[in-house]
Amino acid sequence: MIAAIAVLTAVSCNRQVEFGKSPINKVVAAMTLEEKVNLLVGVGAWNGNDIAQEITDAKNLIPGCAGQTYPIPRLGIPSVMLPDGPGGLRINPTRQNDEKTYYCTSFPVATVLAQSWNQQLVEEVGTAIGDEVKRYGADCLLAPALNLHRNPLLGRNFEYYSEDPVISGKTAAAMVRGVQSNGVGATIKHFALNNQETNRMANDVQIDEQTARELYLKGFEIAVRESQPWAVMTSYNKINGTYAPENATLIDSILRQEWGFEGMVMTDWGGGRDAIATVQAGNDLLMPGSANQIKAIIEAVQNGTLDEKTVDRNVAKILSFIARSPKMQGYEFLNDPDLEAHAKVSRSSATEGMVLLKNEDALPLAANCSMIALYGVSSYDMYVVGTGSGSVNYKHAVGLDEGLKAAGYKLEPSVYNSYSKYVEEHKQAARPGNFMRTGLTNHVIPQSLVRKPFQYRADAIASDIAIITIGRSCGESADRGYEGDYTLTDIEQGLIKDVCDAFHSKGKKVVVILNIGAPIETASWKSQPDAILLAGLPGQEAGYAVTDVLKGDVNPSGKLVDTYVVDFNKIPSTANFPVNARELQSRVRANRNNPDAKPVALYDYTEYKERMDIGYRYFDRHPEMVSYPFGFGLSYTTFTYSEPQAAVTDGIVTLSVKVTNTGAVAGKEAVQVYIEAPKGGMNKLTKELKTYGKTALLQPGESQVMEFKLSEYDLAGFDAASSSWKTVNGEYKADFAASSQDIRSQASFTIAEAQSFTAIGKL
Ligand code: BGC
Repeated sequence: MIAAIAVLTAVSCNRQVEFGKSPINKVVAAMTLEEKVNLLVGVGAWNGNDIAQEITDAKNLIPGCAGQTYPIPRLGIPSVMLPDGPGGLRINPTRQNDEKTYYCTSFPVATVLAQSWNQQLVEEVGTAIGDEVKRYGADCLLAPALNLHRNPLLGRNFEYYSEDPVISGKTAAAMVRGVQSNGVGATIKHFALNNQETNRMANDVQIDEQTARELYLKGFEIAVRESQPWAVMTSYNKINGTYAPENATLIDSILRQEWGFEGMVMTDWGGGRDAIATVQAGNDLLMPGSANQIKAIIEAVQNGTLDEKTVDRNVAKILSFIARSPKMQGYEFLNDPDLEAHAKVSRSSATEGMVLLKNEDALPLAANCSMIALYGVSSYDMYVVGTGSGSVNYKHAVGLDEGLKAAGYKLEPSVYNSYSKYVEEHKQAARPGNFMRTGLTNHVIPQSLVRKPFQYRADAIASDIAIITIGRSCGESADRGYEGDYTLTDIEQGLIKDVCDAFHSKGKKVVVILNIGAPIETASWKSQPDAILLAGLPGQEAGYAVTDVLKGDVNPSGKLVDTYVVDFNKIPSTANFPVNARELQSRVRANRNNPDAKPVALYDYTEYKERMDIGYRYFDRHPEMVSYPFGFGLSYTTFTYSEPQAAVTDGIVTLSVKVTNTGAVAGKEAVQVYIEAPKGGMNKLTKELKTYGKTALLQPGESQVMEFKLSEYDLAGFDAASSSWKTVNGEYKADFAASSQDIRSQASFTIAEAQSFTAIGKL
């Protein structure tokens, strides 16, 4: 089919019209139906690299690029390149018959960036990622991703920002602004409600309108309003019965008409079932597309079931998108990103996204600390990014052993030898070019590395301090497991206990590093070590960045963007999350040949019965169930909050608070602003994070006044009955907080008149 169309385009030449010079409607008018439909349906790794090679100039081909648009040379329409993804550009690092390498920088994953609470820093990371996109010849990044962390076991949590929509939306907006400052595009994804990987291509999310609007769509709304991304990628799942890419309410009414999105909408790879419904819903580009879709769309236009004007509308959106691309701006790429400069950005952003969860006089490492007993497979081969399309083909990941040695520390030889030998022997799986796997297959510590009590005692005598790293990866296509993934294994529990016993008996400290992609169980063991540092999946400079924090070269200022709970089973979404995906799958398989089988809950459909009770919105009412609250993070210094102020002028609320560094070292503070709405209005059960900011590096004794602005719309709740956003009148409280459970200062303000903002479309 595609070859035939190429012949057709070559003969029906129209020289008067040229893309880039002629108005878009003229270009659309000059296109044949086949050309239009070819453009609607993209090209990519999923539907055959041979097609990509056939239609792309050799110099423009990017091996490993997830997808591209179909070119129409006779009208001057180029093929634009659409690579992943959230942790950095993902393309193949090597090419056939080419000695040059094409490595990309692995930056801290989305959750770590969000933990910085620093939008300017995220923008800098975005600027560096966008630079690699441009210099490697691509046009629009398939990132950032901002679905909510509905449950800690969601496989793709690392690629997403937070349990909270405001931090998700603002962090995504900062990333988009940074990427797009290079003149390349960014894509926010997966729109919307892709909150589980189990049966992700067909799962039907059943959700009420208020919860959808206030939580799961809110981040996308903020990102669209604050950054106008070039593209939006729809999700695989259904929402209340309709596939997201086939959902006109979602795409046309909400995204375009209500939020004012001006860019292009594309499917996720292979998303949606009905190509015609997808085109009609306003999902412009079908990625990476198939010959069957091309055939179906052409036939539908020819037999009158699909209006060609609808095709034209979508084609025009795609052309406007292509018109902005570096290809159309005549940019000549040289494959020359400054990877060294970007490694520095990766390192500094990683340090700012790490969260110090506990510190009893253990950190920063004492000046006379010299010999470290370094335990844990992940200390020697850190997970730096998750798996799947969000992985990155970086050149080298810095282990914690490497980072500590580079900073001048010695590693206790017998511990070092046993772990490093094990890692060396199992390194074969640690191929950064591997799409679905990064680092070792299994970082869970094997029995063979468990030491005898006398060895731990000897380690404690020989060393100044112990460091244990617990590693957990996660990734696309599968949700995480509970036993031994969310929870620690018996061996890990035993290691923490044995090391703490041995070192504490010699008056020495133990530090635990969490090298994890999403929350794990902490309550059962956190009392034992002296310090706990959440490093997350911190990007390729991992070992250097952790060392910077341990040593005190960087004062930690990250704060949690998720609630770490005492009991996983008390998380409201757990009752309706596919915790046991394997068992579900076998039930589905058993049902396959049974025509009377009912849809399987959590596989075929998932009811979001917990409604708004996600993360701190629920656990603020149950603080005893929290191990570490949302927004929490320690520093090597202390801060006070004073002079809270609030004023309303012309519908804009201006809030401010003074933050002072009262400790002995310089540091930054993430200031969170939660709003308590008047009681009885809009069914708000808790305070809600509405805005936040990060101070500059404050020297001891130094202060900074942090100012925030909110509109009346920002304060609104969604009223499903009237399908409108409503801001109630009355007295509101602004809580200036160091965490969701640590309100330091409060101001109140009054909204004199209730406001209502009409919504367009009902999900
Ligand atoms: C993922 C997307 C990704 C696309 C292209 C899909 O499987 O869900 O996030 O952008 O593949 O690699």
